[in-house]
Amino acid sequence: MKDLLAIWWGEELKYQHPLGEVLRSMEGADVLESLRRTIGEGIRKLRTSSLQECQGKWEFQLTVPTRFVGTYTIPLLIQKVAEKEGLFLVWTELSEPLRQIHSLVKQRDTLATEALKILDMVSKNIINESSAKISAQRILQKFAELLGARAAVMRLFTRGRWGHYASYGLNSNYLGEYHEIYIDTIPFYRRLIREMRLQITENPMEDLGNLALDLSKVVSPLSMVVSVPLIKNKAIRGFISLAFDEPKPVLYFMTDVLENFANEFAFILEKNEYYLYIVESSERLKKMNLDIVTSLVNATETRDSYTTGHSMRVATYAVELARHLHWDDYEIEKLSIAALLHDIGKVGIPDAILLKPLPLNDMEYNIMQLHPDFSANIVAKVENLQDIVPWVRFHHEYMDGSGYPYGLKGKDIPLGARVLAVADAFDAMTSDRPYRKALSLDQVEEILREGAGKQWDAEIVSLAIRYLDVIYERETMIKESRLEDFRTMMFRLNLLNGLYLFEYLHEEVESLVNNNVPFVFGSMKLPESVHTLPSSAKKKIIHTVTDIIKKDLHYPVLVARKTYLQFVFLVPQYDRQLLQSQLKSLSYHVYERTDMMMEISSYEYPQEKYEVPMVFDNFSHLKESR
Ligand SMILES: [Fe+2]
Ligand SMILES: [Fe+2]
Repeated sequence: MKDLLAIWWGEELKYQHPLGEVLRSMEGADVLESLRRTIGEGIRKLRTSSLQECQGKWEFQLTVPTRFVGTYTIPLLIQKVAEKEGLFLVWTELSEPLRQIHSLVKQRDTLATEALKILDMVSKNIINESSAKISAQRILQKFAELLGARAAVMRLFTRGRWGHYASYGLNSNYLGEYHEIYIDTIPFYRRLIREMRLQITENPMEDLGNLALDLSKVVSPLSMVVSVPLIKNKAIRGFISLAFDEPKPVLYFMTDVLENFANEFAFILEKNEYYLYIVESSERLKKMNLDIVTSLVNATETRDSYTTGHSMRVATYAVELARHLHWDDYEIEKLSIAALLHDIGKVGIPDAILLKPLPLNDMEYNIMQLHPDFSANIVAKVENLQDIVPWVRFHHEYMDGSGYPYGLKGKDIPLGARVLAVADAFDAMTSDRPYRKALSLDQVEEILREGAGKQWDAEIVSLAIRYLDVIYERETMIKESRLEDFRTMMFRLNLLNGLYLFEYLHEEVESLVNNNVPFVFGSMKLPESVHTLPSSAKKKIIHTVTDIIKKDLHYPVLVARKTYLQFVFLVPQYDRQLLQSQLKSLSYHVYERTDMMMEISSYEYPQEKYEVPMVFDNFSHLKESR
């Protein structure tokens, strides 16, 4: 059996093979060349068999794809070429199988371009996904849909097992260990592993044994299965299997495309896993640093019960102000640490002054005024915190130069210090003191307006008046709960956006599921087109949307930002109508202020429980109960 392509392409065969010889003698080398160029790709998989002269005609058989198996007569092909002397006619006038093959080749090209687009899109957006598995899931689904597969599974070979990694359209029965064990015993898969080449079967019931039996319960009729190896460093890392309910002849022409896709896919996954690993470790490190800072601050604040939580709240206010000043996340993070540490120097102030329940006399006040310097000197000892030393040192300076300890004026006071000053004052005024009760928000606003440009930066004051009341209300709620609750709550919040941490929502979902408590959960997503905007516009949109979410979705709705464009929410004890009206006003406000439509979906657990993994991944026990 010879490959027909070789007859036209291979110099030797071209002259030796009877078919090549016939064509050559009839039409000359130029026709052969043109044929090669035009249909070469399409007939790469054509094979000739039983080529024989029969009553003066050369006959050959096409063996792939199966449905085109038949006997075709060579003279017909030659005759058509000869008659019109045009290659166009080779395609339009040739017998049905070749015409179909041509259309399949075209289809192959379109699919190949689309597959490339999927990979491209994924490799660009991959860092937004919360886990490599979720992105694999997404790629697999897109790829399966593109090819018209009814189900798909990706298995990776790790620790001696063909573990399930991602799937589309399959249930947990099929994905369980039972099938893992079978893989090595099936010749179809043994071939895939040995040859590290794609395998196709149009007879899955026979070729895949027990695997096919279960697969046919999901994909019916089970007509075709294609498995593509995932290869890394010349070793097989896993494979992707696609199941079809009708034969897809085009796949025979796509083996290279599919194999390349799989390898590229494996590469992206690895890149993503590595990236997420880096992110996670740096997050862990950051959290550890923050834990140390927080416990230090807590230790000093316990000395004076009136200032408990002060630094943490100043950090929350300062972060909110900095967000509205459009600072970078990195700078905001530094500011929140500066806020946590701004009063740490009070450890150096004697109890008699710090805890005095009456207004201070001049000498006591002079000593008290040393605390910004004390704080700055403590912070200066930490190599990584050098940038924030001036913010801490100057947090009691006034715009008009009448502050302490150095009497700096206006823009000489670093911006970070000016933000801290407003945040600090806001919390001081809204908290009870030994000598006075907390002021009302109206009183605070009046004092801030009064001091704008004199004591505080006027622009920051106007931001405080506009935005800090919402934060204050939340903080008050926290303040009213027990101290322990307050601390845990802080660890659940994302300091950068004031929303909950995604991990926290995730834990909550898990515990609600374990305790069989019904809840509503869902996702709100901005359109992908946001990615095409310049980064400043992108940032602005995200900030605006975050603000709207904080204003419109009230407790007990818990919201976290999951990826760059996606927010998720969880409502443990819910009032369907209330939630719907909140979501409605949210989408209206988002549209009004950003011109963007949020894609909002919500699900009720347990009724729609299998949708849970879409928003919160890694819910293996949920999948199993499906
Ligand atoms: Fe202070
Ligand atoms: Fe303070």
